[in-house]
Amino acid sequence: MKSGKYNRRKFLGAISVSTAGGILINTIAPFSTANAQTNSLLSDQDPKSEYLFADGLTYLNTGTLGPCRRDTIEVSKKTWEELESLPVKFYGKFGAESLAEKTRTIAARFLGCDIGEILITTSTTNGMNAIAQGLRLKSGDHILTTDQEHGGGLLCWNYFAKYYGVIIDMIIIPPGENNAEAILNRIKDSIKKETKLISVSHIFSATGLRMPIAEISSLARSKGILCIVDGAQAAGAIKVNVKELGCDAYATSGHKWLMGPKGTGLLYLSKDVQNIIKPIQFEESYDTYNDGNGVVNLACILGLGKAIEYLESVGITKVEEHNMSLRNRLYERLSSIPKLKIMSPTAGPLASPMLACLVPDSIERTSFVRMLLDKHKLSIRPTHKQWFNGIRFSCHIFNTVKEVDFAANVLQKELET
Ligand SMILES: Cc1ncc(COP(=O)(O)O)c(C=O)c1O
Repeated sequence: MKSGKYNRRKFLGAISVSTAGGILINTIAPFSTANAQTNSLLSDQDPKSEYLFADGLTYLNTGTLGPCRRDTIEVSKKTWEELESLPVKFYGKFGAESLAEKTRTIAARFLGCDIGEILITTSTTNGMNAIAQGLRLKSGDHILTTDQEHGGGLLCWNYFAKYYGVIIDMIIIPPGENNAEAILNRIKDSIKKETKLISVSHIFSATGLRMPIAEISSLARSKGILCIVDGAQAAGAIKVNVKELGCDAYATSGHKWLMGPKGTGLLYLSKDVQNIIKPIQFEESYDTYNDGNGVVNLACILGLGKAIEYLESVGITKVEEHNMSLRNRLYERLSSIPKLKIMSPTAGPLASPMLACLVPDSIERTSFVRMLLDKHKLSIRPTHKQWFNGIRFSCHIFNTVKEVDFAANVLQKELET
């Protein structure tokens, strides 16, 4: 947990600091372990009729894009329709500013921070770009990341490497990694005196590995560098409290696990770093409507607020338990299919509601996934080609034990020949 401000002058100054060394290893806090029970907790309370899914669809693909509930769509639709009755209706003094700020208030509460630390964006990528652009890194500065980052959290650093001479150091997370201490040691060993920040995903897109962010933040703080988190796959899937994580910045998507409208996102910038990370679009103010940000999509932003309120009404701890119980059940079921090799961590602190498997080389994953949709109405995701020839399942609040079992049965049947 972040205890007060750390010395911001250490950042950019990259001065030497004492190593956390073994102390860090001994002080790894217990991770929040989710309930591994196999029964769905929520499916009866979150019926499919609340969503617009096509008939018979089994949707285990929230990691790609989440569904909006009917009540979310209703809020967005109503706002949009009202807006079009007089396009300037909410403009300026007519109230858009305060309406949009309602979503910031809800988001801040949900992520455990102050409204003055939350910005509305259009995506995780948009948030990560804002962070990188707001940092004003210079030639010779190093940033430390992993080889598992999604393009949305990496392109911004590649840009500064290409045009400004920033150097990217990457630690390797081997397939099948299941050891938080090993990850932390690798990060610790890779921090140089020129390292300005660590930028990592909270949950890896390819394998669903949940990174030990609180420990990484603590390590970063002990070295006087920043900890930036790409939380695209975490907010809404598991409990995310940015203060407990202790990171300096956290970018996430509204359109995945938060089940908000497509093209929405959130960015947390800790008060401690707001004088260091200064994105152009929020130079004037963190308000959603401001001269640096231009006109925004009010209908979607209000829909996002509604979507988060729904998750709050269920309780994010309960949502996480549900998601993990389904994921752990799927893990067990898929483990018994000889042609699949699970690439995600076993049940425990590094596991998340996403599960990925390697499929045989003879299977072309994209057409395989398309066949599953066409033939079985099962929607999952092929993993990105840069990682491995695999498939990925995402378990969220609306999914049921029955659906997870269905997916496992389909996989078994399609792979047994
Ligand atoms: C880890 C990670 N980061 C970033 C993104 C991009 O998210 P967005 O489309 O909201 O920018 C994704 C999308 O899958 C992701 O998995």
